[in-house]
Amino acid sequence: MTHILSAVAWPYANGPRHIGHVAGFGVPSDVFSRYKRMCGDDVLMVSGTDEHGTPILVAADKEGVSPEEFADRNNRIIVDDLVKLGLSYDLFTRTTTSVHEEVVQHMFEVCRDNGYMIVQQTPVAIDPQTGNTLPDRYIEGTCPECGADGARGDQCDNCGNQLDPQDLIDPVSKVSGQTPRFEVTDHYFLDLPALASSLSSWLDEVEKEGAWRPNVISFSKHLLDDVRPRAMSRDISWGIPVPGWEDQPQKRLYVWFDAVIGYLSASVEWARRRELSGVGTREDWRQWWNNKDALAYYFMGKDNIVFHSQIWPAELFAYNGKGDNGGKPGELGELNIPTQVVASEFLTMEGKKFSSSKNIVIYVRDILERYQVDALRYFISIAGPETSDSDFTWEEFVRRNNTELVAGWGNLVNRTAAMIAKNFGEIPAPAVFEEIDTRLLSSVRAGFETVGALIDSHQQRAALAEVMRLVGEANAYVSTTEPFKLKGEENRERLATILHTLAQAVYDLNTMMSVFLPHSSNAIDVLFGGDGALAPMPRKEDVHDLSTDKMYPIITGDYSHVPSWAPRDVPVGVKVSKPKPIFEKLDPSVVEEELARLG
Ligand code: MF3
Ligand code: ZN
Repeated sequence: MTHILSAVAWPYANGPRHIGHVAGFGVPSDVFSRYKRMCGDDVLMVSGTDEHGTPILVAADKEGVSPEEFADRNNRIIVDDLVKLGLSYDLFTRTTTSVHEEVVQHMFEVCRDNGYMIVQQTPVAIDPQTGNTLPDRYIEGTCPECGADGARGDQCDNCGNQLDPQDLIDPVSKVSGQTPRFEVTDHYFLDLPALASSLSSWLDEVEKEGAWRPNVISFSKHLLDDVRPRAMSRDISWGIPVPGWEDQPQKRLYVWFDAVIGYLSASVEWARRRELSGVGTREDWRQWWNNKDALAYYFMGKDNIVFHSQIWPAELFAYNGKGDNGGKPGELGELNIPTQVVASEFLTMEGKKFSSSKNIVIYVRDILERYQVDALRYFISIAGPETSDSDFTWEEFVRRNNTELVAGWGNLVNRTAAMIAKNFGEIPAPAVFEEIDTRLLSSVRAGFETVGALIDSHQQRAALAEVMRLVGEANAYVSTTEPFKLKGEENRERLATILHTLAQAVYDLNTMMSVFLPHSSNAIDVLFGGDGALAPMPRKEDVHDLSTDKMYPIITGDYSHVPSWAPRDVPVGVKVSKPKPIFEKLDPSVVEEELARLG
């Protein structure tokens, strides 16, 4: 049994999630976490909404509401989206909690006292029209590294480099269109050069182990070619106050400094809530953070890599006192560095980049209103942007739903249950197995090994494809053995053996499917006499902040009762009645309808 932290990227509280978001961080982290729990590991899956920073502030201003109000509303929307998808967070919280502020300020202080947070004078951009400081993202210009237009002041999406706004060529304010004026002020900088050798040996080690995706490790190592101190405070009124700078409330911690600490603060909050409900102690989070045998997997889209393979580990090394300036950890103890940064590529929509403003988008809540949740989870798992960009098209969504989910897996389940219901009314005991029966059963059994290994190495597309290949084998078995033709008393034993074999195959395939398609797996479980709780589901709960009166929704759940990732004997004698189809076939007209909704 290993303690596994499943650390899932924190969505910005700036609106509902679209399917591109959840394809990157959502479904893959859930599949992995569900699988690891079934392997007997102790998984802690945490995340929350990322609520500070300029985008939230600017969007709130535009609507004429406070950033708190804006974030509150979007936090609720996002929680609903993620619960509906069945994402099994142990705790999904937010960055505006008191625990988060406490942990962030503590980490800042220890990093500072260890000598890794240095004050430097730095130019800030002022919008000449509004007189306000202009955050990096709100300045656009030509990238000094690659020459691409439209680079933002914080990062160039073309080459992926982190930038400083004053280095942009021909900078322009996105708020007013004017050329910003640069002034000089104090800010805290994370001393990345003093942490570079720790980062570098860590990445060398990781590279040797060979588990990271090649593009992620090479991108991460490339970032070390040019390491400079990185500003960790901002001139902004919305963010966590900078310890020691209480007299300068216009300066706050940089949103990315606080957001990545969310993984830790959410773990701490989880433990404190467990203590409150009498099922654990407030120190339980340490099993995932101080224990050297624990593993930590971070799930995100590729635009987040730099923050997880450089900024976050640098913060952790700084806290641990593991850099050129020495130092020692604070009361949280020596904290574990990420085991793996599991970054996915981007999902596009009908060949284009997702864009809410251009209406090239489908929101999670809208797709779930019209289609089955597992139809979406299936598409993301089988065709998501795992190691290269992938495209969502309505045609492909309908095709995969109809020819794979409905005609493949759904048909196998359905006809197995229907034939059992009609001929026996219960799962029959087998008579004598023939070679063709044992061959199917051993293929399916071997799936636990092969599919498991693929999920373990974050090859979920191949993993689900392998389950579907086994589904195909089972369907071929039906065509070959033709149980529907076996009539009369003289064939009864053979029929029982075939239907038992099929029930066993469906049962085990459904165990494997439960990590990808939890909702339908539960429905299938009921068909075959189970209690429908094969795949535990998350729930939304309204809770009090641990130190204030504020209430907010969290996602949590009890995921301790799961079957093992192993074959289980199908229960002979349980009643099986005539099934209703588990998956809905989609009319091809759906494609036209949906395309008409797009911009
Ligand atoms: N909010 C960021 C995004 O959506 C992700 C933050 S991940 C965190 O790109 F770890 F920093 F929180
Ligand atoms: Zn660039």
